[in-house]
Amino acid sequence: MADLNSFASRHYAAGDFTLKPPSYLAEYERILAVSRDKATSILELGVSSGASLLMWRDYLPRATIVGIDINEIPPNIAGQDRIHFIQAGQDDTSALDKAGELAGGPFDLIIDDASHIGYLTKRSFLHLFPNLLKPGGTYAIEDFCTGFLPEFPDGSTYIEPPASDTASGTRLFESHQFGMVGVIKQMIDHMVRELIAGQQSYLSIEKITIRTNLALIEKSSKSAGPPPSRGPGDRDVLGGAGPEAEIAALGADIRNLHRRLTDLESADPHLLRRRVSEVEVVLDRISSKFGWLGRLRRMVPGFGRTD
Ligand SMILES: C[S@@+](CC[C@H](N)C(=O)[O-])C[C@H]1O[C@@H](n2cnc3c(N)ncnc32)[C@H](O)[C@@H]1O
Repeated sequence: MADLNSFASRHYAAGDFTLKPPSYLAEYERILAVSRDKATSILELGVSSGASLLMWRDYLPRATIVGIDINEIPPNIAGQDRIHFIQAGQDDTSALDKAGELAGGPFDLIIDDASHIGYLTKRSFLHLFPNLLKPGGTYAIEDFCTGFLPEFPDGSTYIEPPASDTASGTRLFESHQFGMVGVIKQMIDHMVRELIAGQQSYLSIEKITIRTNLALIEKSSKSAGPPPSRGPGDRDVLGGAGPEAEIAALGADIRNLHRRLTDLESADPHLLRRRVSEVEVVLDRISSKFGWLGRLRRMVPGFGRTD
């Protein structure tokens, strides 16, 4: 049987840190092996040297491969047969649509290996999963553990889930929600929507496979529910959210934090550490938007009051 690792070693230079780990390649091989001789299509967000696009092209002799990267096209994929490249941000919905046009329709496999930042990952997913992934297709999100890296823009220090929340009557089981980790955990809620509410989510997820640092989200063949209505403060706003939406989102963060802090019934050190870490992230976001503080004060009742 052809081994995707051997295709990878043809194209990645020695020591290239972007080389996909064997555990990822094993999952991709599991998904792709049955359709190697078919005219499939793959979209990869994040191209870097172009090695992965060449690997897909060679492993799938009839496939169309589209890559999107915020940087310029790497020279080794320019003019390559069956490979298309678009220079754009991963949340540029017109570029994502253009990728679909180049492939002649929705993709069999979409891989997000681009920014590894939660809100950008989510923006791409919200556009691509409903519109540009085939039913039964797979959406892979690589390297989601950036949510555990405090040096990452939306990451935060790893905090062990508490072992102390086993008391009878415990209702809330805390876990890490930062960055891509939180985005992926939200997908569980979408997946169970039909079971709980009788109608599919607009993100109609059939199955989620989680490996260390890799999530594979399979699209259901059932028809999706209607998309949510979007207001200015919606957290799901796709690319182009203006300052008003960002301010409203910050306001919602603060209100949410306030509610969660006042909900805190125990002095469990795990919970307190997690709350402190959440407050720090929100404060960071606020200080980066310092000029908007005045407007925030007007939007969030009681914000900034010291009495
Ligand atoms: C880990 S590398 C991709 C490696 C490649 N997928 C592979 O397996 O060989 C990440 C790439 O994402 C690109 N990138 C970072 N932020 C992006 C964004 N917001 N939109 C599109 N591409 C982005 C970077 O320029 C970089 O080339």
